[in-house]
Amino acid sequence: MVDGFGLISVVAPLEERFLYLNEATVKDKTVLIRADLNVPYDEHQNITDDNRIRAVLPTINYCLDGGAKVVLCSHMGRPKGEPVPELSLGPVARRLARLLNKDVAMAPDCVGPEVKRLVEAMKPGDILLLENLRFHPEEQMNDDDFAHELGSLADIYVNDAFAVAHRGHASVVAITEHVPLCVAGFLMKNELLYFHRAMEDPARPLVAIVGGAKVSSKISAIENLLDTADKLIIGGAMANTFLKAIYYNIGSQSLVEEELVERARSIMRKARRRGVKFYIPVDCVVADRFDRKAETKITTVQEVPENWMITDIGPATCSLYAEALTNAKTIIWNGPMGAFEIDAFSRGTYQMVQTVANTYALTIVGGGDTDVALHRAGESSRISYISTGGGAFLKLMEGGQLPGIVALEEHARAHHEREDDV
Ligand code: 3PG
Repeated sequence: MVDGFGLISVVAPLEERFLYLNEATVKDKTVLIRADLNVPYDEHQNITDDNRIRAVLPTINYCLDGGAKVVLCSHMGRPKGEPVPELSLGPVARRLARLLNKDVAMAPDCVGPEVKRLVEAMKPGDILLLENLRFHPEEQMNDDDFAHELGSLADIYVNDAFAVAHRGHASVVAITEHVPLCVAGFLMKNELLYFHRAMEDPARPLVAIVGGAKVSSKISAIENLLDTADKLIIGGAMANTFLKAIYYNIGSQSLVEEELVERARSIMRKARRRGVKFYIPVDCVVADRFDRKAETKITTVQEVPENWMITDIGPATCSLYAEALTNAKTIIWNGPMGAFEIDAFSRGTYQMVQTVANTYALTIVGGGDTDVALHRAGESSRISYISTGGGAFLKLMEGGQLPGIVALEEHARAHHEREDDV
């Protein structure tokens, strides 16, 4: 048995697949927490949304309270393997210090002799944030030497970075070979448990709402949902491709992905064969151009003017979707109903926020644009769970495997085998 680790509690099959932080003894240990602190900055490097930082606080506090030395690491943006001052995690360290009400030291890098020296000088209860992992190309290459150097800083590795679990990167995957004990943090655990409850063992009817601009980015998720959902509701510009597939004239300026029209048609056929209720808009907001000063009107999908574009779902569609959601016991939602960044095209999305918040269902919303709409509407507290993951959440909806999760599972399996041998 690895030093400092208790027995795994058997609560549900999902729980058996990983080692969890609450079962580890962290006192006096150096704990490396991989978080996703990739939060948005404005042009002055002010953090405009700190939800991802707040989401990892329970894990950080558990380790600090337990007497660990906490080393935190994350990526920020896409710096292409070299230092970019604008993508420093410095502002995150300052916000974290405010949220924790304690000093958070900022390292000049994530590996190297200076970082090693800083970690060695830490005392229990200290916290150190390493600089952006992606300043090194080896991070995204899943490089084993880089993972070894990072992992050598710690006794325990905690993966609490669900939002980057779909990336096969060194701090997410290779590192699990280089730290004696690798566990899932509280955020990771919640993300997996809620997703499992929604998709693998749902209270029915399970209604999936899929929106957003590009059908190409969500079509695999929609196909996968045909196997699990009782109803599928489509919104956003991606609905245009489905409308086109049943021969509506959607206006020459509307976004449509011609090469996916046939696949959209076959999805609707498959839904009918399987008895999955498939909803697409019956009316829409149209605009003469994509601009906040555009001329707009509401029309049925049969009457979209030739040179206009569809920018949002209409009021009749909002009512139809609300009715389809009344008996839902589980709702999973990813993607807005229209181009909600422009006020005139935002009503469908905000109406959907209200509808989902008002149901009695277990409601799970994917990160990305959808959580922004929820926060802006002030309704996030009325949603059962808002995922911190955008791409990672979508990958799960597609039925895909996340490399970061697989790595944790393999580590847990090897750990159990070693225990059995003792
Ligand atoms: C995200 O914001 O979705 C995650 O932090 C992953 O970022 P990436 O898409 O740059 O890998």
